Amino acid sequence: MFRLGPLELQSNLFLSPLAGYTNLPFRLVIREVGGVDLCTTDLVNARSLLEENRKALKLIETNERDQPLAVQLFGSVPEEMRDAAVDLERRGIASVDINMGCPVRKGRRLRDDD
Ligand SMILES: Cc1cc2nc3c(=O)[nH]c(=O)nc-3n(C[C@H](O)[C@H](O)[C@H](O)COP(=O)(O)O)c2cc1C
Repeated sequence: MFRLGPLELQSNLFLSPLAGYTNLPFRLVIREVGGVDLCTTDLVNARSLLEENRKALKLIETNERDQPLAVQLFGSVPEEMRDAAVDLERRGIASVDINMGCPVRKGRRLRDDD
């Protein structure tokens, strides 16, 4: 067992956020293969989530077989990060992960587009 704050996880292996890959079908396949418990979404723009942008909502799409789930947020406005985290908690998301500057080109491009 692995304790992460209030979460009691069945495994100490996690699915890291992989922009462009860690969507719902991918996470379900990884869960089916076994060994992980907490999985994470692609990075999601906090403001887009607050604006209920279609792409942002698609990135956080989940179901009962995809639990527990962490959503990774990125943004540069502290209040938006806070409000988006509160929104995710309200939606039943188990954990919020904060993107601290993933160096892969795709991550940089997504943030530059912000
Ligand atoms: C294609 C790709 C996309 C990634 N996207 C993210 C991301 O959205 N957020 C993040 O924090 N890290 C991202 N990462 C970093 C990974 O989550 C992971 O931390 C990194 O690959 C190091 O893990 P490893 O040592 O097991 O490879 C990405 C990495 C790759 C290769």
